[in-house]
This record gives sequence, C-alpha cells and structure tokens, in this order.
Amino acid sequence: MTCHWLAPDLTMSAQDYRTLLDAALSFKSRYPLHTEGTLRNRTIYFLFYNPSLRTRSSFQTGLMRLGGNAIVLDPLNGIYTPALADAEIPYATERVADVARVLSSYGDAIAVRMYGAPAGWVYGAAHRHLEAFAQASRVPVINMECDRFHPCQALADAMTLREQLGELAGRRLCIAWTYSGSWHKPVAVPQSLLLAAVKSGMDVTLAHPEPFALDPQVMQAAAAFADDTGARIRVTHDLRDGVTHAHAVYAKSWCGLGHLPTRHGDPVDEVAMRNTFEQHRDWCVDADIMGLATSGAGYLHCLPVDRGQEVTDDVVEGVSSWVFRQAANRLHAQNAVMAHLLNPGALS
Ligand code: CP
Repeated sequence: MTCHWLAPDLTMSAQDYRTLLDAALSFKSRYPLHTEGTLRNRTIYFLFYNPSLRTRSSFQTGLMRLGGNAIVLDPLNGIYTPALADAEIPYATERVADVARVLSSYGDAIAVRMYGAPAGWVYGAAHRHLEAFAQASRVPVINMECDRFHPCQALADAMTLREQLGELAGRRLCIAWTYSGSWHKPVAVPQSLLLAAVKSGMDVTLAHPEPFALDPQVMQAAAAFADDTGARIRVTHDLRDGVTHAHAVYAKSWCGLGHLPTRHGDPVDEVAMRNTFEQHRDWCVDADIMGLATSGAGYLHCLPVDRGQEVTDDVVEGVSSWVFRQAANRLHAQNAVMAHLLNPGALS
C-alpha cells in the first residue's frame, strides 16, 4: 500500500510521530554533506493552488540538495486544473484521478497545497481533494497545507520546540488566535500543531475568542492522544490567561469555521466573519503579553505574519522570537518527510 502524508498529525501514533521527529532532527544534523544522494534521480511534482514562499522554496531546495528533481506545476494557470467530478469544465479542468494517475506514471511523489477559495471555502473540501489525489495515485501524495492540516509546518514546529525546550513532555504551549486584517487564514496550522504537541506530551492551552473554536473532530482526536501521552489540553477565551506561565507562545490568526459555507457554491458570510474579527482587534501579542509567559519563553509563528495585527514588531524581532528558526526548519522537516516516504532507510 502506498504511504501518503495527508494528515499524519491525526493518523500516526504518538510513538511513530516521536520516532519520525527524532529521525528528522538526526537527519538535519547530517545535512547536507551526509544526506546527499538520499533522493538521487527522484522526481516530485508540486501543485500550488495557493501562494507560498516557504513551502515552495524549502521543498525545491531540499529535494535538489538530496539529489532529486522538483517540478512545480501551477494548477490554476499552466495545466488543466485538476478538479473533482462535480466541478469539471470541458477542456479547462482535468479529473483529479486522471492527473494523479498520469503524474504517478512519471515521477515518485505528488505534493499539493489547496485551501480556501479554490475549494469554495467549504471546510474539508480541500482535504477531500487531496484524498482524491491519494486514492488514484500510485506514488505518495504529500499535503503541503489543506484546509484541515499543515503537517509539514507542524513537524518543523515540533523540531523547533524540541531544539529550544529539550524534552517536550510537561512543557507548556499556548496556541493563541490573534487578530488579522484578513480572515483568509485556514485552521490548518493550529490544528496540526495541537495534535503534534499533545503527541509530544505537551500541556497545551488554546486561547481564542469563542467564535474561533477549532474543528470538534480535531479536538476529540487531540484529547485521545493526550490520554495516551499524559498531555493536558485547556481552552480559554482570555489571551492573557492563555499566555501566563507558557514556555512557548504560538500566536496567529485563523478564520471562524462557523462563517464558512457548508455547501459548494454558497458564499462565505463575509460580513459576519469581518465583524467577528473586528470585535477582537485587541487580541495581539505584544511585549507586555509575552511578559506573562515563563522567563525565556519563545514566540512562534508559521509566517507570513501580519505585523502590528497578529503580533507587534518588537516581539517578532526580539530575543524571544523563534520564527526564523521555525522557517529554517521547514527545509529539514520536509527533507525528513521526503526520505520517510521515498527512502526510509536513509532516516535510520
Ligand atoms: N508557513 C507556510 O506554509 O509558509 P508559505 O505559505 O510561505 O509556504
């Protein structure tokens, strides 16, 4: 059976995830001199339905340094847009199952980023799109961020937390919603992070205004992992309470799931979404808020960050900022993911 990387935060056991995390850190320590050739002559196709700086450039660079070839395809302008059966347009789209079969007859993996507008903002639709790729593909399909999960980001986040905090069991992580002038950020990052953190045994406090609750299914899965690892999960609707005594503060914006459509073709309730955001403009992490965390605590964000809205400049630029270490770890996390899928022996 082909091994995919669609929602490992949800599907991998805590033990397997920790093993991969250890392997990723070890692989990083051997990069680049002792990892060259790991993916020699392997080809991966990268399809981005949404913009990307980090994911695109770190995957391409990493694969090239491991000896492989990256081919980036623009699904919206350059190929026939891969579409599910109910969204096909003659000679403009091509069924996902057909695209997956064709690409998997040429290369070694297919990586897809899709969330938001290309999937009509229906929560879960983008993830189903990736699942359709995986069902038809004979090679691994990699999730480069969908509307539910961003597993490459979460692995890089877990690596960063381990490097900064050491053993993570019992360490306190605050995942906080913060304000942005845009409502268009998916819940993928906090959801994958929550799952990855509880698998590592961290005590997680989720801080968000009530309308920004995460997917109940993800919360349920996180609670089950927490039972397994001894992690604890707490939800608060007070940013200051959430940050207090944290060892790490991961604060970013995400959309309100309750304002998204449930049927394809229905609109986002943008007025309500915007109003909900505007009611919580004060949810911004600044030096005063960071001062509530444990001494030496770090600030994390997946980037791109809306400075002055999600977080102040002085926090991003300050000594407590781990954001550029996180961004650097995207390359190492994804190198490990590619090796895990295509040459697992290289990770041991
Ligand atoms: N964090 C992240 O996925 O960055 P990009 O959108 O630039 O890929």
